[in-house]
Amino acid sequence: MAKAEDTADEKIATSHSGSSLPFGVKLGSTRTVVAIPDGDDVVVSQSLTCLTSYGNAVSGEEQYLYGEEAAEKYPDQVEFMLRSGLPEDDERAELAAKFFDHYVESLGIPDDSVVVYAVPAIENEAGIENLQSVIEQAPIGETLVRSYPESLCGAIPALGPGLEAIDEIFLAVNLGSTNLEACAYRHGEHLSPFATGAVSGNEVDRRIAGLVEEETQGRVNIDGTTAREYKEEHADFVEFTPFTDIIQQPGGGSHEFTIERSVMDALDEYVDDVVDQVANTFLPDLANDYIRVYQYALSKPVVLTGGMACIPGIVEEFERRLSRELQVEVEAVAPEQPAQAAAVGAQRIASRLAQR
Ligand SMILES: Nc1ncnc2c1ncn2[C@@H]1O[C@H](COP(=O)(O)OP(=O)(O)OP(=O)(O)O)[C@@H](O)[C@H]1O
Ligand SMILES: [Mg+2]
Repeated sequence: MAKAEDTADEKIATSHSGSSLPFGVKLGSTRTVVAIPDGDDVVVSQSLTCLTSYGNAVSGEEQYLYGEEAAEKYPDQVEFMLRSGLPEDDERAELAAKFFDHYVESLGIPDDSVVVYAVPAIENEAGIENLQSVIEQAPIGETLVRSYPESLCGAIPALGPGLEAIDEIFLAVNLGSTNLEACAYRHGEHLSPFATGAVSGNEVDRRIAGLVEEETQGRVNIDGTTAREYKEEHADFVEFTPFTDIIQQPGGGSHEFTIERSVMDALDEYVDDVVDQVANTFLPDLANDYIRVYQYALSKPVVLTGGMACIPGIVEEFERRLSRELQVEVEAVAPEQPAQAAAVGAQRIASRLAQR
């Protein structure tokens, strides 16, 4: 990851020619992703959205670690300061600003840039205001700053090479770390938004940790970071392979164990929960509010966005189970790289805005 950042840095330095460059940013509860123009191309940089502080052993001064380094060195105390992609209070807004300033500085994003933020579409006024304050005080986007819904940005790379998604009517289901969101888009307009924190990537991680304990007869306790890594590295609906890991035991020595079921059992339940929420809460509400949009959109592919859409085979699994639940054939698609798609889509909007 450090490598991607280095190349991104270099690209910014060499492609900056005086006019304002367009950037796409997604500040996520788990990862922050920035899409950076590189000639006719776009490169992506990402970092875990977290930091931690510690006292310098000699001077006693407070020092900060960010992103992957913080999560690796201090897994027990690292602070992921966003929930649903939003800072919940002033203290977390300050931490988010500290993290984001450090990150954009490390990337060398110029101040006089056009920046589009992919933001959560959640009804949480205080949280949105806090995010707004982070965006406003960031040292980038002097030329122009705009925000668009995260799942619209994420759907953009799924529906064409340009901004086709903005001219379409479709359903978007965002599979995030702290929330499940769903809505219909009609020419960019956001209809019948639905969100729940009960079905989320983080919940899957917690379930994996619990199941691992059961599967190993109580011998293995893993933390949230490890559970997330198991999921991100091994979850696969097409061909899951059992894997082994080793823990150091407190009294010395180590214990090797194999995980056969925990990861996919947790994910199986997750997809069932997603389908249940979409079929039995979101879609009835949409049909009630906009029956024509409902009928039209269901004849088109449902767009799955968000990081959980990265799991191999999850799109087909969702499609199969939703079709069965609704008793009609439903199609689903996802962008090629769901974890980066919102930033890439935001960058395409920024690029269009920069031309005007
Ligand atoms: N390659 C991958 N395989 C499996 N899961 C992944 C992968 N990449 C990311 N995820 C999971 O996707 C989730 C993060 O998705 P996303 O970045 O869309 O969330 P977010 O916007 O930060 O969260 P939210 O909007 O819900 O607050 C996490 O649970 C993460 O573990
Ligand atoms: Mg999100």
